[in-house]
Amino acid sequence: MRSHTVAYIGKRKAIMDFPQEFIRFVKNASRVVALTGAGVSQESGLRTFRDAQDGLWTKYKPEDLASPESFARDPKLVWDWYAWRREAVKGVRPNPGHYALVEMEKQIPEFTLITQNVDGLHRFAGSRNIYELHGNIQKVRCSECGTYAETWGDDTESVPVCQSCGGLLRPDVVWFGESLPRAELEAAVTASRACQVFMSIGTSGVVQPAASLAHAARNNGSVVVEINAEPTPLTPKVDFAFHGRSGEILPELVEAVWGN
Ligand code: APR
Repeated sequence: MRSHTVAYIGKRKAIMDFPQEFIRFVKNASRVVALTGAGVSQESGLRTFRDAQDGLWTKYKPEDLASPESFARDPKLVWDWYAWRREAVKGVRPNPGHYALVEMEKQIPEFTLITQNVDGLHRFAGSRNIYELHGNIQKVRCSECGTYAETWGDDTESVPVCQSCGGLLRPDVVWFGESLPRAELEAAVTASRACQVFMSIGTSGVVQPAASLAHAARNNGSVVVEINAEPTPLTPKVDFAFHGRSGEILPELVEAVWGN
């Protein structure tokens, strides 16, 4: 299948003519999977992980903050960074890209949203069939017994502890070196293998095992689409690539497929 790119120049759409072949695939599909990454939340004002100009990681080294070792070494530093990120997320709202995915879920019989994002914005926008592969930053659990905490002290001097066992609380996210939640990952793989159209949206496609889902779909005959601000290692392997802002492309796609 030919690859097709849409170019955006600033806010002005250079071209916006989805190939009719692509429109037909999406319109006729009953099983669609969308895998999203930090790029989908970028237009809500949340930073991505690897965009050099403003990537979250430019301020910190991942291994210094998002790993069991970093938490063991300096639990307060890690707790404070996630507390800062929870506050940052509270201040942002879903963008048109999130709402376009909500509309797709309404239009498509079996629509599965798999996200690497921990910001909770998909659920906030109204998506329901979601697998949060890397957890959710708004949830907090005990690092010892795993009990989830609904509330915790706002003592700024120390990391809050579990009411059940006294263990240190931690964010309910997957850290580097940790395995993904098994049930979510298995469901994500099953959906990716069974779908007719797989959309990789706003992700650099470099972190495993999420990055392998597109290949699982392709190996089972799915039409694979990339919607991303820039080419990624996945681009040469997709059937259609639309490079631009997901907050602009996704609503245009919904309009093109289901608009009146
Ligand atoms: N629209 C579409 N794509 C965008 C936009 C946008 N407005 N802004 C940025 N992008 C693209 C970037 O070009 C980049 O390719 O989104 C992608 C974001 O990639 P990363 O920053 O690597 O984020 P992600 O792919 O989600 O990272 C995966 O790595 O660090 C871990 O656990 C973390 O979940 C994260 C995982």
